Amino acid sequence: MEQDGAMEPLVPPPESPSPWVQRFADLVPEGEPVLDVACGGGRHTRWFLERGHPVTAVDRNVRALAPMPRLTVVEADLEDGHPFPFAPASFAGVVVTNYLWRPILAAIVQCVAPGGALIYETFALGNERFGRPSNPDFLLAPGELLDAARAGGLRVVAYEDVVVDSPRPAAVQRIAATCP
Ligand SMILES: C[S@@+](CC[C@H](N)C(=O)[O-])C[C@H]1O[C@@H](n2cnc3c(N)ncnc32)[C@H](O)[C@@H]1O
Repeated sequence: MEQDGAMEPLVPPPESPSPWVQRFADLVPEGEPVLDVACGGGRHTRWFLERGHPVTAVDRNVRALAPMPRLTVVEADLEDGHPFPFAPASFAGVVVTNYLWRPILAAIVQCVAPGGALIYETFALGNERFGRPSNPDFLLAPGELLDAARAGGLRVVAYEDVVVDSPRPAAVQRIAATCP
């Protein structure tokens, strides 16, 4: 019989960085600033801090983020109707995972500075088959992430519109795109 301590986890723990983010993190120029939008517990904030980037982490709930060198924490409601609180072309890396608020999608894309990259992964229509989010307001329409990146002048490096099994079954879109 296998012992618990000897077993490898079958799925990554929820706090581990998204494999998509890890795969494309090198698109963000070394040492340049990163914005983690709707950062939650900060798994990608920590990932980019550990890689030597200054990181700005924004969320309406920032309680999980302890002060750290090179970390700027911004507590903000991104859905309150105010303009997106970051200027165009202000970050070499913009990372968004498991979050969509359509009215600020274009502003998020515009935040990527020339030479920088957008890495975005979130739920898509079809996810309602698997659970939440199931509200279409929070689910990307087919091609929506691709269209948003291209409308913002980004060059698409990789894009997927897929059903995944891990960390749990979900319909997702994900994109990695650079700003010329
Ligand atoms: C599913 S979590 C994703 C967290 C993180 N990006 C990750 O993948 O680990 C969604 C995050 O969006 C944040 N959020 C939801 N509504 C928000 C709002 N109106 N303004 C700012 N953040 C919001 C939540 O607080 C939460 O941290």
